[in-house]
Amino acid sequence: MWLPTLLKAIEGDMRTEGMVISAEDIYSLNQGSLKDAVVLFGGGCTAEVVSTQGLILTNHHCGHSFIQQHSSMEHNYLRDGFSAPTLADELPSPGLSATFIVRMEDVTDRMQAAFTMGMGETERGEAANKLGNEIAREVPPGPGVKAVVRPFNYGNSWYLIVSETFNDVRMVCAPPGDIGKFGGDTDNWMWPRHTGDFSMFRIYASPDNQPAAFSAANVPYTPKHSLPIAIDGAVPGEFAMIFGFPGRTQRYLPSVAVAQVMDVIDPLRIEMRTASLNVINAAMLENEQAKLQYASKQARIANGWKKWQGEVRGLKELDAVVVKQEQEREFAARAAGNPLYEAVPGELVRLYGEMLPYESARELFVELVYMGPEFLRFAQGYRKLIEEHAELRKENKLQGELDHLRTGAQGYFKNYIPEVDRKIFKAVLPVYRKHAQAGLAPGELTVLDKRHGNWDRYADAVFDKSIFTSPDRLYKALDHFSPSVAKRMAKDPAWRLVQALSNNYSEQVRPRLGVLSDSLDAAMRTWSGGLMELFPEKTWWPDANSTLRLSYGKVEGAEPRDGIIYKPFTTLEGVMEKYDPANPEFEVPQKLFNLYRAKDYGPYAHNGTMPVCFLSSLHTTGGNSGSPVLNGRGELIGLNFDRTWESTMSDILFDPAKCRNISVDIRYVLFIIDKYLGAKHLVEEMNLVSAGEELPHLIDLPLHR
Ligand code: ARG
Ligand code: GLU
Repeated sequence: MWLPTLLKAIEGDMRTEGMVISAEDIYSLNQGSLKDAVVLFGGGCTAEVVSTQGLILTNHHCGHSFIQQHSSMEHNYLRDGFSAPTLADELPSPGLSATFIVRMEDVTDRMQAAFTMGMGETERGEAANKLGNEIAREVPPGPGVKAVVRPFNYGNSWYLIVSETFNDVRMVCAPPGDIGKFGGDTDNWMWPRHTGDFSMFRIYASPDNQPAAFSAANVPYTPKHSLPIAIDGAVPGEFAMIFGFPGRTQRYLPSVAVAQVMDVIDPLRIEMRTASLNVINAAMLENEQAKLQYASKQARIANGWKKWQGEVRGLKELDAVVVKQEQEREFAARAAGNPLYEAVPGELVRLYGEMLPYESARELFVELVYMGPEFLRFAQGYRKLIEEHAELRKENKLQGELDHLRTGAQGYFKNYIPEVDRKIFKAVLPVYRKHAQAGLAPGELTVLDKRHGNWDRYADAVFDKSIFTSPDRLYKALDHFSPSVAKRMAKDPAWRLVQALSNNYSEQVRPRLGVLSDSLDAAMRTWSGGLMELFPEKTWWPDANSTLRLSYGKVEGAEPRDGIIYKPFTTLEGVMEKYDPANPEFEVPQKLFNLYRAKDYGPYAHNGTMPVCFLSSLHTTGGNSGSPVLNGRGELIGLNFDRTWESTMSDILFDPAKCRNISVDIRYVLFIIDKYLGAKHLVEEMNLVSAGEELPHLIDLPLHR
């Protein structure tokens, strides 16, 4: 996960491995380069620019909530797919943004001026903020421009990152769910894979090509660079690289922390989510409406749930704790007599040990309030109304707040089934309570009061009485809002419960967690700095932190465990093999059958068949979804969307022999856009190349306006 500004140092190796373009072609301050075609899509995915008119490709699962936002029972784009025949049909997607990286600059030397020996962590953090902000303020302002100084490697180095954000991003096309989510959660994190996990959007800018809020006067953005598309696709054994925004890795974790992840943290999250998922899955199987309403939520909960199971298993298979212990022994040997490093392994053991109960409490709180039943989180949104209604009225802002809450409630109840939420609440409560430690959870959730007798009855009591669990009760309260309604809201059992949870967390858990993680940050900074210094023979890269990174490797399969070989490609034949009309995750649209039977693949087939997904040995993590996978010439060969299950431990321990990322083949994407969605004009808008040569017959065709 290399920083794009440091590629000069590894350019030689990349060329030996098969890269044709130069480091300057990837990251340049003087001319359009690859980095100018890579965007942070929304909060946590990657997308890439594929036309001179701001067309961007990302995953279906990254665009999912926006596709869902535009879907209804009448226009079910989630189920049927969508494509805009003209620019005027492209769908504005409020809340969606696309962010380019303008430049990154190592400011570690300048930042050192902020720090003095023996400085406490809080002090250090404040000093870093202050100087970081000063450095960032030197960047000239502009529409959408943001400058921040961010720490890497626990603050061993610092970078100034200048970015440019566009907020008018519109939906252009999406495959039907049975293609974009084919295999669903059964196949998620698995190989062989047959998911057409892509969707397409377009960035709009002001008439002078600047970031601007949505406006009918906006025009398609003209990018500094757009990716050529390799019509020949990925070639097994050849060089490949990925450019994107990986979210978070923890490669420097010591053995004690790895053991905690495996034995405590992951199992706890898995157990909480299993409880919710049992309820949601059953509801979704039961009816079409629930399937639509809970699709996004279900996928969000199930994704981590399955990943952590793979992570625990993968770490066990790699004997990760022992591997880390050996590293620590060697560290101790090399650090002997070195006052800076000698004590740090012991310090880590002590700090992680002390942290565990607080970390568990945090996970429980998050899983209950943010991943469990929804009404708690929903009630939390009424804090301002309940606590500040008198002030709001004085300032003439009460009506505004009520309108805002009503709009929010309409969106919320659109995808809400009270009886499902009630069952989720009942299912997660006992798990929460089993793991909750006295003091680190609200009293009413650890000691059941006599009135209710059992947790089921307690849950019913909360649910039946709360106004936040029923649209009728809630709208009535908003319609007739008065100080006495506010008083009743303040006594609402859901509100009181989420208050108790939040207060307990912010009073009993967060402060101690803050102190401990400050100390831990300091220790980790010394530890990771020590590893780099004492093990110069090894390669070290900073942990992922949602900044732009590049990783390179090959298009290749794997032998993930004894007796199993993963071939590097899957094809449309495999989609047909998996077809199961009885299982909603494996349905195949009739039209795809027809195209398959007629072998109507256009120019996108390879040896008479349609490639669907491929594997490569690129180091990726969450956030790399939608990232462009490129060949040595910098041409797009696929979109990353997943890892194999045997790779999920790579956030902590990357194993090049086992770890493979999964991409949807660009030829399948083009085939679906052209032949399935009938949107040939979109393919024609892209620059298709074969072995580096442009294909004139495809690019000279007129655009769709
Ligand atoms: N596992 C992939 C990622 O972490 C894909 C998730 C979406 N797909 C799904 N079937 N839930 O984001
Ligand atoms: N699906 C992940 C994402 O949304 C990428 C897969 C991974 O974690 O490797 O970012």
